[in-house]
Amino acid sequence: MTTSPTVLKPAGTAARGFAKTRRRDRWWVAPTVQGILFTILATYLFFSGIVWNPVFGTPYEVDGYLSPLFSPLLFPDALPRFISPGLLILWIPLGFRATCYYYRKAYYRFYFADPPGCAVGEPTIHRGYKMETAFPFILQNFHRYFLYLAFIPLTFLWIDAIGALVPQGHLRLGLGTAIFFVNVIFLTGFSLSCNSLRHLAGGRLDCFSCTRRQRVQYSLWQRLTTLNRHHMAWAWISFLSVTLTDVYVRLLALGIISDPAIRL
Ligand code: FES
Repeated sequence: MTTSPTVLKPAGTAARGFAKTRRRDRWWVAPTVQGILFTILATYLFFSGIVWNPVFGTPYEVDGYLSPLFSPLLFPDALPRFISPGLLILWIPLGFRATCYYYRKAYYRFYFADPPGCAVGEPTIHRGYKMETAFPFILQNFHRYFLYLAFIPLTFLWIDAIGALVPQGHLRLGLGTAIFFVNVIFLTGFSLSCNSLRHLAGGRLDCFSCTRRQRVQYSLWQRLTTLNRHHMAWAWISFLSVTLTDVYVRLLALGIISDPAIRL
């Protein structure tokens, strides 16, 4: 019987020992700021999408504006009171973001110090780390499938934005409408700038110009590459926009603010 060899992470060239480095810059600032921001936003979205409605009955929809955390709204009346409708859909964007190559870098650094920064030493506990070849991190390889799934709620968010623009068939030009469109544009930018999508478009081609189909793929790959260069920016700006859109809908629904709008 043969057994497959255990894959361990290469030792690398960084100094051994947690946070040991010859770097003189403040390498810890960016991972710390990103990690704290990530934690705050993820915690807010968890409570808003999963906890508030079942526990406090906090509304997530008002006057044609549906919080993006609940779209598409599935079986809101059929679910038991203790289950948030957000639970039925949030696992898709959550899985998509949790397995994203950029977010992995950010949260591996902040939560696991793996590594804390480029050319910075890791804790010795990482010696047995088998990278993404063993449970649980092997699940990161599902990223491509989450990418496919992510286009489902994204399509519904476009429908919601258009619905917010023409509630009950009348045009409404409001702050909320603008927020909904800006949010869905940022989310689309995030999805289209995904590394996996870029690879799907042209990453496996040996020749970019041999056939008409390959030329089309190459052209698409070039466009996606342009977006991909700013994937980190898309990741943050869409994370912020989806949070702020939810905050806006919640404040409207609770009657704390009103939506300045021109209705035609
Ligand atoms: Fe970030 Fe795919 S790599 S969404």
